[in-house]
Amino acid sequence: MQSALWIWSGVAFAGLLSWALVTWFPEDRTILGIEPYEQIEFEALPADANVADLERGRSYYMQLCALCHGANGNGYGEFSYRMVPKPADLTNIKIMNKSDTELEAVIRDGIKGTAMAPWKKTLDAVQRNQIVGYIRYLALQRNYQANG
Ligand code: HEC
Repeated sequence: MQSALWIWSGVAFAGLLSWALVTWFPEDRTILGIEPYEQIEFEALPADANVADLERGRSYYMQLCALCHGANGNGYGEFSYRMVPKPADLTNIKIMNKSDTELEAVIRDGIKGTAMAPWKKTLDAVQRNQIVGYIRYLALQRNYQANG
């Protein structure tokens, strides 16, 4: 009887504690060091950017790509360290010089013999293009941060 009392008060206390933490620190939702709700830096964007598409792209990117390519696209995601070849830096000039069609095709078909899987079953063409838009944004953001 007595141990049941201890167990239930433990459960109640844990419940109260988690409620209190979520109430007091609602912003602290980092997963594996990734900040999924990081604000988009609007100053880095061209005036005609479609922010709604960008938000979708960011959501997919953070869930599916960031673990390898890194939250900021530089290729140093949590999973990247023991990978050969390493995940590409998506913010470099090589990527910036590729067309949207080329990038969308890589995301669709993957790269054989590497960890870069085909995403055609997971993401439709619209979603893949939203991610391409987000990759472009990551490159812009990196330039913007480097050059002020
Ligand atoms: C499991 C790890 C992993 C995940 C997850 C992953 N990638 Fe990759 N990706 C790689 C690797 C490794 C390469 C580099 C292959 C190479 O060097 O040939 C790559 C290459 C690429 C390239 C080609 C770069 C170039 O040079 O042309 C693009 C674009 C890309 N990834 C985008 C994405 C997107 C978008 C997602 C999410 C939908 C994603 N990747 C998810 C590992 C990953």
